[in-house]
Parts: sequence; structure tokens; C-alpha cells
Amino acid sequence: MELSQAAKAILEKRYLKKKYGQVIETPEDMFRRVANNIAMAEENYCKHHVAEMTEAFFQIMTRLEFLPNSPTLMNAGRDLQQLSACFVIPVEDSIEGIFDALKVAALIHKSGGGTGFSFSRLRPKNDTVQTTGGVASGPLSFMKIFNVATEEIKQGGARRGANMAILRVDHPDILDFIKAKKDATKYTNFNFSVAITDEFMQAVAVNTTYGLRNPHTNKIVTELLATDVYNAIIDMAWHNGEPGVVFIDRINGANPTPHVGYIESTNPCGEQPLLPYESCNLGSINLAKFVNDNKEIDWERLKYVTGTAVQFLDNVIDMNQYPLESIAEVTKGNRKIGLGVMGFTDMLIQLGVGYAEDRAVEIAEQVMGFIHTEARNASKELATWRGAFPNYKGSIYEQQGLPLRNATLTTIAPTGTISMIADCSSGIEPLYALAYKRKIIDEESDMQINQHVKKLLEEHGINNKNLLERISERGSVQGINEIPLELQKLLVTAHDITPKQHVRMQAAFQKYTDNAVSKTVNFPSNASKGDIAKVFNLAYETGCKGITVYRDGSRLGQILQVSSVT
Ligand code: CDP
Repeated sequence: MELSQAAKAILEKRYLKKKYGQVIETPEDMFRRVANNIAMAEENYCKHHVAEMTEAFFQIMTRLEFLPNSPTLMNAGRDLQQLSACFVIPVEDSIEGIFDALKVAALIHKSGGGTGFSFSRLRPKNDTVQTTGGVASGPLSFMKIFNVATEEIKQGGARRGANMAILRVDHPDILDFIKAKKDATKYTNFNFSVAITDEFMQAVAVNTTYGLRNPHTNKIVTELLATDVYNAIIDMAWHNGEPGVVFIDRINGANPTPHVGYIESTNPCGEQPLLPYESCNLGSINLAKFVNDNKEIDWERLKYVTGTAVQFLDNVIDMNQYPLESIAEVTKGNRKIGLGVMGFTDMLIQLGVGYAEDRAVEIAEQVMGFIHTEARNASKELATWRGAFPNYKGSIYEQQGLPLRNATLTTIAPTGTISMIADCSSGIEPLYALAYKRKIIDEESDMQINQHVKKLLEEHGINNKNLLERISERGSVQGINEIPLELQKLLVTAHDITPKQHVRMQAAFQKYTDNAVSKTVNFPSNASKGDIAKVFNLAYETGCKGITVYRDGSRLGQILQVSSVT
């Protein structure tokens, strides 16, 4: 199979089996190990499917048409057998509850998963503690402990743990939470998001106050002007991109199993809202592989891969070894999976459509709409012989008379590492730069140039070294006279696209995504706070489940950096 140099390096470093520090499997062996293991679940339903599905899973992975999330690639068919990237752990308002959550998080990080927590149930700082007569430390203080613990536990030796911290906008400590990451050296293993309610957004709209409630006593303790809090969030998002926000009422409005529980948090990167103790495994279809020589989308193949991927991810739920019995219980009750896409921009380039064009948004809706429909069809078909998910009764699907095998089907993940393995553009993001250095987990890799961009430049006879260097120094082709205008339109980067267009694209994918969409809305360094506020409002108005912004240059250790060709 064909893999890029960078892909081979990542696989060797983090994914392939090792003995005494020596790699003892090839990438193909790895895909064989994963396919064998995941197809074993067929035995639970129909034994004679095992061989056929093993081959089908092996094919879609080695053709780089579909990849499951990293923990599945790393751990399937090995002792650990922990296959999920996403977990949400409840944090109860007691010392025992807090440290229980910490222990579970440690176990999850050890196995390569990421954890999301809502700290909203904790009583605020300086509240009373009955048993000791003392005062409470508050959510932010306890979060420091989670942060330090994460620092010390490398995920399965493979990557450092990632956490999401959520606090409701009506928690009394909200202003401290919003400002907590002003100092970029603090809470480095957490992403912060404020859970914003519809009531709060209405209060912002009419410029009134809203109540802040002590979760311990369930009493309103104070009121704040909603716009003051909203502006504080926007100030900090402008300052260094955090906190993000999640629209928690909208998320619960789409909760497929409200009879099982309330959704209070998402996973670390925000794309997967989950119930307390729920986990989810993700997988992504590489859209770069679905454009044929006539520059058309190969819908037949996309349908086949979508159906096979749904069966794969459903099997993962059976084969998974869960870090805790309560996690196994909730996860198996809902059987949520998160099928998404990567390589979207590569697809657009092959189709000759620029990311900023209206046509790109139409293609996004068409492709994700198709995947969503086909994923549902596949899940419905699985339900006929495997049964609907156990919590189906009482779910929103029961009301619709739609028995499904899985309570959710689609999620758009960042695909930070698996897109490097597949050598495609990540998730639904535009290219960050046309040539750049990419950090692989904690180390830097060589200079990267997107293969489709390279091909296109070559087709246009652009291989002049000086010109290529200029492109890579700027990271963009906009305004370079030697580049034909039609190419400039096609080869737009995250910085060439308006924030509004970023949000439009996020909203287009969200329309056909059961869970949420991982997307960064990029701003130029000279963007104003007003620009950021407009985009937050737009995300709310267009049905997004949350929003994360990033103003260029506003954070140290930027994930991707523009670099020059060497
Ligand atoms: O590409 P890969 O499968 O490695 O992961 P991703 O799509 O970039 O991230 C998906 C999810 O994996 C995140 O939202 C986290 O829940 C989890 N993750 C993690 O726990 N630790 C990391 N270093 C990266 C991702």
C-alpha cells in the first residue's frame, strides 16, 4: 500500500506494535490486525460474515478510504483493546465524586482516549462545606488537579491526554472560568468551553440581566448583565481563542435519548456531545478518494464505504474494552457512533471548486446529506438483524417509528492524526497553508505540501523554485501575479477565507450531522472584537452546536506554522 513518508513515520512512532523498542509489524499488518479484530464481532450475529467483513474492512482502510479514530488503530487486537477517542465523565459535588472522576480520567488517558467534563455541578468558590464548616475551593481549583494528573499520564505511551472543561454560563464562577486561560501557561491540558443557554442568548439580545445559580443549593445567588458576560467571552476568544462556546440547549434539543440523561459536556475537541459515562468511537471517510477521472463524485463507492464503515463502527462497540462498567453500560445502551469525513478540501480541489465559493457549500450539503442518509439506511438495516439500540424505546427515533442500531451516526472530527496517515486535508478544514511544517504530536515533521496542490501547480507548469519558495513563505498564492486567477480562486487557505464563510461551511455540515462539527474559524491578526462577536452570533443563528475561533498569531506554540521550502 502507498503511504507518505510522514504517514510511515507517525505509524512507526505511535501505532505499530513494538517489541523491545523495535517495530514488529508493517502498516499492512496493522490494518490486518484491526480488520481481523473488528470483524470478530460478526460472530455475535452471523458467523459466516466474518471472513467477508474482515476483507471488506481491510480493503477500505488500506485504500485509505476510511480510517477509524486513533485508539482503534493503536489498540484493536492488542491487550489494551480500548478503541474509543471520546468520553464524558460526570463530576459530582463531593470530594469523593471529584476524585472518582479523576481516577476514571487517568484510566482513560492511559488508554489513549480523551475526556470531557462539566464542572457545573460543583458548588462555587467560597461556598460553605457542611462537614468541615470550611469554604469550598470551587471548580477552577479542582481543575488544576485534573490538569496536573493529565500532564503526568501519557495516553497509552502514545499521546498526552486531552480534556474538555465545560462550565455553564449561569454558574456563579463563570467570570473566573472565562478568564482562567488568559495566562497561557495554565490549564494547558484543557480546552475550555462555556455552555451557553437559550435564556442567556435572549438576555444578550434584549440587553437584560440573567440569574446565576448555585448548583448546590439550586438558588439564584446573583444576577449579571448578559452582555457583560458575553463580551468577556468574546474578549478572551479574541485574546487567544479560548474559551469556545457550546450551545447546550440546542445540543440537548437534539439529544436522541433524553429519557436516559441530560447532555452536559462534549469530548475534548467539541465534536461529540455525550451523556455522563458515555463513550463514542469515531471514524472518517477520506473524500479525496471519491473523485473519479471525469472529475465527478463516485456516489456508488461512497455509498458502499459509508455502509461498511457504519458496520465497522457498530462492531467496535462490541469489541471495545471499557475502562469502567458504568461506561460500558451507557455506551452499549445507546450504541452511538460518529462517522465523519476528512479530505473535503482535497475533494473540492479535484472538482475544481474553491472553498470560498458558494458551490463549495452546496457540495458540502450534498455530500454530507448523502453520507447521513446512507449511514442511517445502513444502521436501519443493521437493526433488522442485530436489533435496535437497547435504549430505543423512549428515544426520539421511537416517536418517528425509525428503529436504528445506533442512537447517533455522524460526527465531524478534527482528524488531526488520521488525516496525516491518509495524507489528506484534515476534517472539513481548508488548507492551512499551501506549504508548511506540521507538528506531529509533540515533534515537528518535515515541510509538507498538499499532494493535490502540488499536482495542480505542476499541471500549470508552475515548478519554478523561486516561485514555490515565495508561495511557501507566504503560505498563500493570493496576489501572486504569476499564478493564474482561476488557480488563486481554487487554492485558498484558511486565512484567505472570510470568517463568515468558515461558519457557513460549519453550518452546512452541521445540518447533516447528528453530533457536532469540529471546525476552527480563522481570523486575521487585525480582526476586532466586534468581528468575533458577529461570528458568534452567526454560529448561533445558523444552527451550529458551538463555535471556536482563532485569531492568527494570538497563541504561542501554534499548531501549524507556515514555513519555506527547503
Ligand atoms: O486523528 P485522530 O483519530 O487521532 O483524532 P482527532 O480526530 O484529531 O480527535 C478526535 C478526538 O480524539 C478528540 O476530540 C479527542 O476526544 C480525542 N483525542 C485525544 O484524546 N487526545 C489527542 N491528543 C487527540 C485527540
